[in-house]
Amino acid sequence: MRFYTTDTNEHGLPHDPFKAIVAPRPIGWISTRSKEGTVNLAPYSFFNAISDRPKLVMFSSAGMKDSASLAIESGEFVVNLATGPLAEHVNRTSAPAPLGTSEFSFSGLTEAPCRLVSAPRVAESPAALECRVTEWFQPKGLDGTASQNTVVIGQVVAIHIDDSILVDGMIDMGRAQPLSRLGYLDYAVTDSVFQMHRPRMPDASDV
Ligand SMILES: Cc1cc2nc3c(=O)[nH]c(=O)nc-3n(C[C@H](O)[C@H](O)[C@H](O)COP(=O)(O)O)c2cc1C
Repeated sequence: MRFYTTDTNEHGLPHDPFKAIVAPRPIGWISTRSKEGTVNLAPYSFFNAISDRPKLVMFSSAGMKDSASLAIESGEFVVNLATGPLAEHVNRTSAPAPLGTSEFSFSGLTEAPCRLVSAPRVAESPAALECRVTEWFQPKGLDGTASQNTVVIGQVVAIHIDDSILVDGMIDMGRAQPLSRLGYLDYAVTDSVFQMHRPRMPDASDV
């Protein structure tokens, strides 16, 4: 078993394994619109749901990238579901396009209007979360030093789901094929699903 401490980060491996251990990570495909109307789209795998009531999601930007600055400026962002069939498009939207160049047209994707926020959603994506920013901050390390990352948290105020991914009223993973980020340059598409019931504590009488 290898062991190393992260103060020196001397893992002795060719690449830092940290993100390959925190895997798979869902990909938040974030669309935003500036006050001037510029539209932006980019993938973020430092992304997750962090609360159910209210429904809150977060993404984390390494430095103040356009998605974070536009979400903070406008107070809104949209999370589009990144899927296996859209993987090449997702990757293309990570290109460092200059602010003002829409990654939608650049990547051959279609803008669809949202209802409660001004940013568009990706028409080709089978699900989207309309979000309003609740807070943003730079998380701190143990010594109090601020990370270079900016975390943006948003409350989900509306949800779009394409009927094509629903089976018996539930989102079917075989149809949705969510794309996730692993370590290094690796990705995964969820194609194998199984169910488990949560265990119940045995009654004292069963013991
Ligand atoms: C699958 C994938 C996940 C990514 N996740 C992140 C992330 O969590 N944080 C980040 O800062 N950049 C991430 N990136 C890189 C950004 O997408 C890239 O820097 C992009 O140009 C940012 O665009 P923006 O400036 O329009 O927001 C990721 C790239 C890919 C392909």
